[in-house]
Order: sequence, then structure tokens, then C-alpha cells
Amino acid sequence: MLKINRLPKVKFNLQSIYEAHYKVTYRGISILHNPFDYLLYQMLIFDVKPDLIIEIGSYNGGSALYFSDLLDLIGKGEVHTIDIKDNIAPLVKQKKNIKFFFNGYENYDLSLTKEFNKILVIDDGSHKYEDVKNVLMKFAPIVSISSYIVIEDGIISHLKLSKHYNEGPLKAIDEFLKENKGFIIDAKYCNFFGQNATFNVNGYLKRIS
Ligand SMILES: C[S@@+](CC[C@H](N)C(=O)[O-])C[C@H]1O[C@@H](n2cnc3c(N)ncnc32)[C@H](O)[C@@H]1O
Repeated sequence: MLKINRLPKVKFNLQSIYEAHYKVTYRGISILHNPFDYLLYQMLIFDVKPDLIIEIGSYNGGSALYFSDLLDLIGKGEVHTIDIKDNIAPLVKQKKNIKFFFNGYENYDLSLTKEFNKILVIDDGSHKYEDVKNVLMKFAPIVSISSYIVIEDGIISHLKLSKHYNEGPLKAIDEFLKENKGFIIDAKYCNFFGQNATFNVNGYLKRIS
């Protein structure tokens, strides 16, 4: 039997994952998520089977493409991805089940969601406290029961970056949950790989009523 006398070095931490996540691509397009969250999202999307995913924060469209490909595998659903500018990669523009909105979440018309039964919302926008709070106030009411509003990147507090975001997502989530008893932090996703082993710290918010 092969005996390893000296184990190879294993060295990574939150900072190294954070730095690498800026370089991740999906089908050649930039996509900015923690590796654990890619896995969690595909589980969540298969669990919820949404008819509509609203994504705030498109950037190059890599995450919209990922979500739309997952919906293709389920065989239904579309993505509405919202930004304030159009930096979408051409490949993403070709997808039939993605619609693009470039006037910010503030101007997204909620009446567009009326025809959909199961709605999932993902906020990967500015991450500033005020914006996250406004997104929660505007979009939480249209999240379907048993579905989610996912608030991305609370991890910035642990990376000591939250002062640039006026305390960012964690403050907004905390206030929102105090005022909205119909939502809970879902430990199934937040704690799947260890306590809040995600960039979406306390951010997988499930609608229970
Ligand atoms: C972190 S990036 C999104 C990354 C993308 N979801 C991905 O994984 O590749 C944040 C994006 O939010 C956008 N953004 C900023 N303010 C916004 C607003 N008010 N409404 C919608 N998007 C906004 C920025 O322009 C930027 O493209």
C-alpha cells in the first residue's frame, strides 16, 4: 500500500477564495460567486423549480446565463436580469429565456411578474445597505411561499469591507427579518458546508408565510 509520509500542503482561506472569485468564468463569461454558492444555487433552483428568477445585478450576464441554463434543464422558467448599464456578453443575449432590464431595480415594473406562479429573487446589485433594504421592501412581497429572496455578499462584513457599503447586506437583512416574520434564514443552504460557508451570509431567506 502506498504510504504518504508527508501530506501535500493545503492552504486556502476566505481571502484567497474572495480574490479568486473575481476570476471565475462560466462558459467563458465572468460570474462572481463563491464556489459553494454555485452548488447551492443549482440545488435551490431544482428544489424550488421557479417560473421566474429575478436577478438584480447582471454585470456581464454570467450568472443570468448559469441560472437560465439550470432552468433549461428543468424545462421551464425565465430569468429577468436587471442592471443600470448594458455590459452583457453577446452569448448571453442569445438566450431566449433571459430578459434584460437596464433601468435599475428601482424602475423594474412588478406588474411583469403577474403571470408567473413561482418567483425566486436574487439580489447581487450594489450591496449598499440602502439598496439592499429597498430591494427587500420592493421584491419580498412577490416572492412565492416556499421560495426565496437571496441576498448576496453579506461576506463583505467578514472581509472588513462593509464600511464601503454603509454596513451592507447584513444590516439590511437583520432589519428586514425583524419587520417581516414571513421570512426565515434557511440554514439548509446557509450552513450546508459549515456555518455560513457561503458569500451570502444569512442571505438565503425563505418565505414561509
Ligand atoms: C456584483 S455585480 C453582479 C454580478 C453578476 N450577478 C455575476 O454574478 O456575474 C453588481 C452589478 O450590480 C449593478 N447595479 C448597481 N446598482 C444597481 C441598481 N440600482 N439596479 C440594478 N443593478 C445595479 C452593477 O452595475 C453591477 O453590474
